[in-house]
Amino acid sequence: MAQALSLTHISHAYGPDVTLSYPDLHLEGGQELVISGPSGVGKTTLLHFMAGLLRPTGGEVRYGELLVNALSESGRDLFRARNVGYVFQDFHLMPGYSALENVLLGLGLAGIRGAAALTRARESLTALGLAQRLHHSPNQLSTGERQRVALARAVAHRPALLLADEPTAHLDPSRGGEAVALLRRTAGELGATLVVVSHDPAVVNAFEQRLELGKVAAAPLPKQPQGAGRVPA
Ligand SMILES: Nc1ncnc2c1ncn2[C@@H]1O[C@H](COP(=O)(O)OP(=O)(O)OP(=O)(O)O)[C@@H](O)[C@H]1O
Ligand SMILES: [Mg+2]
Repeated sequence: MAQALSLTHISHAYGPDVTLSYPDLHLEGGQELVISGPSGVGKTTLLHFMAGLLRPTGGEVRYGELLVNALSESGRDLFRARNVGYVFQDFHLMPGYSALENVLLGLGLAGIRGAAALTRARESLTALGLAQRLHHSPNQLSTGERQRVALARAVAHRPALLLADEPTAHLDPSRGGEAVALLRRTAGELGATLVVVSHDPAVVNAFEQRLELGKVAAAPLPKQPQGAGRVPA
């Protein structure tokens, strides 16, 4: 069951020269948000805060009752393993391993191993149209297929929070549209909250709720019923 995700008063100093600050945002469990904005504005960094991959130097990240930014590194690892599916921009697949093994590795991190993991991994790859590609390694797959393996790995442990960084960056427009549809459908099936980072207008326009970094004044996202509302431009 997806919990509410709230980020408040977030700022981050990457050393003395780069300080990023963010508008507050609040998503109810199961909502969708797209984040856009120019290169270097801090989109990936924001996704990393949500995933517990990085701790902001200021502000709070809350997932339900959990204050994610206050957790230790191992606490954040556990939070991520239990709750988060992350689709990296460049996929982060292990080159020496098959599609199936890549998904099994992800499940292992979430503590799911053995026969149960094998069933899950096969199921999620099959659901993404990769039943004939289970034993191919990433270099034997097309870019779109690698994208789907990365997505299968992100969703196999049934995360409640699905985060995707530029999921269409390597795809042609039609494959890009499919990838976003797949993310939304998968999140919908899991009842997961979905946050997508993209600079692609076709992707941005597909979402009702949008946060454009670098443009929005430091104002909170309005708290509105599920699916409603947009960030004021
Ligand atoms: N590890 C780091 N050390 C120092 N500065 C960093 C580090 N990671 C990111 N930055 C800086 O923080 C800023 C935001 O980076 P981030 O990767 O979040 O941007 P982005 O919006 O995702 O950009 P892009 O659209 O190009 O992916 C950039 O100016 C970047 O140079
Ligand atoms: Mg980025």
